Amino acid sequence: MDLESRPGDFDPMSFKRATLEEIEGVPFPHDLQKHWDLLQGFKARPDDLLICTYPKAGTTWIQQIVDMIQHGGDLEKCNHSPIYERMPFIEMPPVIKPLPSGVEQADKMPSPRILKSHLPVQLLPPSFWEQKCKIIYVARNAKDNVVSYYYFHHISKLMPEPGNWDEFLENFIAGKIAWGSWFDHVRYWWEAKDRHPILYLFYEDMKEDPAKEIQKVAQFMGLELPQSVLNQIVQHTRFDSMKANPMTNYSTLPSSILDQSVSPFMRKGIVGNWKEHFTVAQSEQLDDVCARLLQGSGLNFRTQL
Ligand code: A3P
Repeated sequence: MDLESRPGDFDPMSFKRATLEEIEGVPFPHDLQKHWDLLQGFKARPDDLLICTYPKAGTTWIQQIVDMIQHGGDLEKCNHSPIYERMPFIEMPPVIKPLPSGVEQADKMPSPRILKSHLPVQLLPPSFWEQKCKIIYVARNAKDNVVSYYYFHHISKLMPEPGNWDEFLENFIAGKIAWGSWFDHVRYWWEAKDRHPILYLFYEDMKEDPAKEIQKVAQFMGLELPQSVLNQIVQHTRFDSMKANPMTNYSTLPSSILDQSVSPFMRKGIVGNWKEHFTVAQSEQLDDVCARLLQGSGLNFRTQL
């Protein structure tokens, strides 16, 4: 769907940036509130595969990997439409017309579906647990995650104003940003994998050895990847390939929604970019909070490779 060709459907002048409203103690962009009951009644199907992440942890990357695995490494087959049309973002309210809400989009889609969500584990619609759907979760270290989220707030008109970097970091640490506490998110999803079919991956591992992590994903999906297909997938899901691909780089969204002249969606794609943003004091503060809030979880994040 070419949104640029239908500018009348989205009026940037009347579009105000979101404010945050809490749902069960977790802040979300306010539009989600009136959509909540519909979302909670979402009808998952047993063969759905859900991709879940904290925002900016590498969602688009794992989405493209999963899609390429499902299509046997054939980029042409994946490239029939932008990634957000291939995989409904289930909690997306119907704010970007003519795009339907994530729930409507998913309801119309034939099985097997691949779905995307950023919901914390306790707020996932219950049917995903009832149907025992497979879930792939990707976690990224807090420092790179918050930097990426900060830039995203600048370019996405669907997010609240971020304030300056110091303020944004404070709000991130306090969990007072959209989709809530990163610490709770990564920790509670980690604990959930002991009672549900969840493949828990790390952005840093994907960066270090993409082929190995792609194999894990394929195995989880119950598929075998011949070496030639694996090579294709590694090549087409590299950062530079996805940055150049209009079907994965979000350039198909109008700048009135996502202004990539401010910062590209595919921004850096590395481990350790946080070093260019954090002061020494901020880095130590976040290390301390991570150590405290993740203590005893068994979770360990790498902030450099
Ligand atoms: P940066 O802002 O640090 O560059 P999401 O898809 O969850 O919104 O995450 C976006 C982040 O993942 C961005 O991080 C983006 O550059 C990075 N990313 C997207 N595709 C990638 C890829 N193929 N390899 C590495 N990083 C990727």
